[in-house]
Amino acid sequence: MSDYQVRLYKDSDYERVREIFADGMIEHTTKAFHTSLRLPRTWAFLLLTFLLLSWITGSLLMSVLAVIIDVGLLFYIHKHIYTAYANYCLKDDMLDIQKYYLQRDGCCFWVVESSGEVAGMVAAVPSPNPGGERQVELKRLSVPRKHRGKGIAKALCRTVIDHARKRGCEAVVLETSYPQVDAWKLYEKMGFKRTRSYFTPALLGKLLFFRILVYRYDLPVPR
Ligand SMILES: CC(C)(COP(=O)(O)OP(=O)(O)OC[C@H]1O[C@@H](n2cnc3c(N)ncnc32)[C@H](O)[C@@H]1OP(=O)(O)O)[C@@H](O)C(=O)NCCC(=O)NCCS
Repeated sequence: MSDYQVRLYKDSDYERVREIFADGMIEHTTKAFHTSLRLPRTWAFLLLTFLLLSWITGSLLMSVLAVIIDVGLLFYIHKHIYTAYANYCLKDDMLDIQKYYLQRDGCCFWVVESSGEVAGMVAAVPSPNPGGERQVELKRLSVPRKHRGKGIAKALCRTVIDHARKRGCEAVVLETSYPQVDAWKLYEKMGFKRTRSYFTPALLGKLLFFRILVYRYDLPVPR
C-alpha cells in the first residue's frame, strides 16, 4: 500500500469516481447470473419449459430455443437489477458528491490516489437504521480491477472505521449482496460480523436468490 495514499474526495475526481462506482456495481451481473444458474429451482424451471414446449409443439428446435431465451432473460434480469441500482445511485448521492458527502455532518468520502490516478473510493454516512444515530454506514467501496489485491480496500475500510471511532460511534454497519463474494470475504477478513440477510426485491429476490447481507463492526464504547 506504500505507493498509495488515502485522501479526501476533490471535485476533479468526479467523473472517475462515478465511473469506478458504476463499473464495480455492473460487474456483479455475471456473478449473480452464475449464482442463479446453480440453483435447483432454475434447472427445474428450464426443464419444465423444455418439456412443456416439446409437448405443445413437438419440436426439439423450438424447445431448445425456448430454454436459450429463458437463460438470456435470466441474464437480462440480473443486468437490469445492477444497472438500475447503479443508475439510481448516480442520480442520488453520487450526483453531487461534494454536497452529499462533504458538506453534511457525519458524512465523508475518500479516494485512494496512486501516481495521480484514482485507485479506489469509499464513503461514510450516519446509519439511517432506527436507533442508528451512533452507527456509521460504510458505502460505495470500490477498487478498479487493475488496482485490486494490493490491500487498497482494507485501507479504505480502516479509514471508515477510524472515522467512526473518532466520532465516538458504537459500530460501522454496511450492506452487500450475496454474489459480491470478494466484498463479503473482505469484510469478514476485516472483522465485520454478518448480522442478518434478506431478499430484495421481495418475491423476485427470493426466486433469483438475490440476498442482501448485513454486516456490523463493533467499536469499543468510549467511557
Ligand atoms: C471488493 C473489493 C473492494 C476488494 O478490493 P481490493 O483492493 O482488491 O481488496 P484488498 O486487496 O484490500 O483485499 C482485502 C481482502 O479481501 C478479500 N478478497 C479480496 N478479493 C478477493 C477475492 N477475489 N477472493 C477472495 N477474497 C478476496 C481477501 O480476504 C483479502 O485479504 P488478503 O489479500 O489478505 O487475503 C473489489 O473487489 C471491488 O471493488 N469489487 C467491486 C465493487 C464491490 O463489490 N464493492 C463492494 C460494495 S459492498
